[in-house]
Amino acid sequence: MSYVALQGGHSANGGSRMGYETVDFARLQTPGNVLTFGRFETPGLSLSGVNLIVVPSAEHAAHLAADRVWEVLAAEGQRVIGTATGGTMEPIWGEIHRRLVPVSLDCRQLVAVGLDEYVGLPPDCPQSYRAENLRNLGPLARFGFNPAENLHLPTTWNAGEGRPLTNEELLIECGRYERTVGENRPAVQLLGIGSDGHIGFSMPWSAKSSPASGTHLVTLSTETREANARFFGGDINAVPKHALTMGLGTLHHMAEAGAQLLLVATGQAKQDALFAALCGPVWSGCPASFLRLFPNVTVIADEAAAARLIR
Ligand code: GLP
Repeated sequence: MSYVALQGGHSANGGSRMGYETVDFARLQTPGNVLTFGRFETPGLSLSGVNLIVVPSAEHAAHLAADRVWEVLAAEGQRVIGTATGGTMEPIWGEIHRRLVPVSLDCRQLVAVGLDEYVGLPPDCPQSYRAENLRNLGPLARFGFNPAENLHLPTTWNAGEGRPLTNEELLIECGRYERTVGENRPAVQLLGIGSDGHIGFSMPWSAKSSPASGTHLVTLSTETREANARFFGGDINAVPKHALTMGLGTLHHMAEAGAQLLLVATGQAKQDALFAALCGPVWSGCPASFLRLFPNVTVIADEAAAARLIR
């Protein structure tokens, strides 16, 4: 494992407004790097294919993740960004929206693929992940991004009949979505982490939380529904019980095909999950732990999320 100390201060090319050197993500092709500001010593750390970047605050994490997403958005021609949802992603997109103001991009050939979608919510429900993705990606429409054509998410609702898909229809949709992701390989796939170590909606202890699993139907754990109740007015009963999610196998294929899996973890509530993911056994008890088996994974954590990794 090699350690690369990040220097404070501004970068020569002006890329950083946050007092860290701009991280050259290309340098992270070699796995097992730790980039951190402070003292860092974690005996149990088992990074394997993962690069870990620890930054002082959630704001730094959002800026750094936004830097990487921006590289994809500002590229030209056909390119794909893999999106995630949740509170961790909000400041990343907030930062991207701020950067959009003074620039001009060409997003006509930009494609987005989302990780997961609830079952039981119509797509125009504000809590649906389609609606959340539209809030995040919507400002790109003025640069030609066409969400109707180019934002892909698992479909869980029959719009014509105004009802959720049946179980049988959902299983067919899993296969269709797996093919869609296979045809639209992201350059970067954003990931959050649940406080129970879930990735996307791949739940702990599920037989489907294995590196062989493609897009699948899940029953959401109570912990996940409790955590997400804050987006449903605090009412856990309003949180759907099921979802479709890309599987760890979907992410593995993506990473093998060259996608960078960019996991962002911020806040104290994530410290146990991040510790389990990077220091615990690789098992379905912590779906995020399987990322250590994949190539091309970068974790950006703030000090609060990395607290159990920093001694
Ligand atoms: C949800 C999403 C995940 C996300 C997780 C963490 O369960 N399906 O993709 O990573 O929440 O969300 P937050 O960032 O709000 O903690």
